[in-house]
Amino acid sequence: MTTAATATPATAGLSLPMVPPPPLVAIRDLSVTLGGNLILRRVTADIARGKITALIGLNGCGKTTLLRAVVGEYPYRGEVKYHCGHDHSRPRPENVGYVPQRLSVDARLPLTIRDLFGLALSRRPLFLGVPRWVSDRAGALLDRVGMPGMLDRPIDGLSGGQLQRVLLALALDPSPELLLLDEPAAGIDFKDQKKFYDLISRINQEMGLTVVLVSHDLNMINAHAHQVLCLKEGAIACQGRPEEILTPANLSVVFGAETPLFHHRGAATAG
Ligand SMILES: Nc1ncnc2c1ncn2[C@@H]1O[C@H](COP(=O)(O)OP(=O)(O)OP(=O)(O)O)[C@@H](O)[C@H]1O
Ligand SMILES: [Mg+2]
Repeated sequence: MTTAATATPATAGLSLPMVPPPPLVAIRDLSVTLGGNLILRRVTADIARGKITALIGLNGCGKTTLLRAVVGEYPYRGEVKYHCGHDHSRPRPENVGYVPQRLSVDARLPLTIRDLFGLALSRRPLFLGVPRWVSDRAGALLDRVGMPGMLDRPIDGLSGGQLQRVLLALALDPSPELLLLDEPAAGIDFKDQKKFYDLISRINQEMGLTVVLVSHDLNMINAHAHQVLCLKEGAIACQGRPEEILTPANLSVVFGAETPLFHHRGAATAG
């Protein structure tokens, strides 16, 4: 049998049915138990290659747990299969960039952005100095996230939006295939949030990077995501394109009485 993938020149002129590329990550029947409680229940979902997938749901429904299971930080039953040619049985940082929901380092440490990159990239003590190659790479990454020339800014003086950009820049090294962003714009004012989401879209388009984005901001998701996964009490409630999923009926199932304010695409993007 001839398939699109094996088409020869003789069949190349025929119109063959389009075979969609496999998802970058196929999650099948994934269950996670933490502290004796079943947190994720038989989650089956696809993370579309090169697209932005938004993950939504109420506080405590299991969004962060799902991200951590996908990168192998939590044990799970079921399957997480990466279709990218690398062995992801133990995902390595070069394959997956992760901006966590909470920073586990103290942002008040007396460090500059250059120092932070020095610690993260060269893994040698700061008193030895930050190597030139690290400064060059950090400078290029800062350019990419819209913070040129800020290598020597102390991190304790950065705004929330700037700090998130620095964390994003760290997650972009070395060129990941999958970028996981767990509420990356929480706590940032509206103007900076919009700029941050615009930046994510630009990076997604320019680098073809697959992004999973946890967010409670349905307007931003409507404007920027290609796919939406809805979690409710640890199970998938619905998944599909934003225009299919962000309907009053679905949202009331996922969020109940706590449905966030949301204007449909036309209204959200007007003006
Ligand atoms: N290490 C753990 N041990 C036991 N229970 C945990 C652990 N981590 C998370 N949980 C529980 O799992 C559930 C899901 O937590 P998770 O952090 O994944 O939710 P979330 O959807 O990311 O919520 P939020 O929107 O508040 O970030 C919660 O009830 C939480 O208390
Ligand atoms: Mg969370």
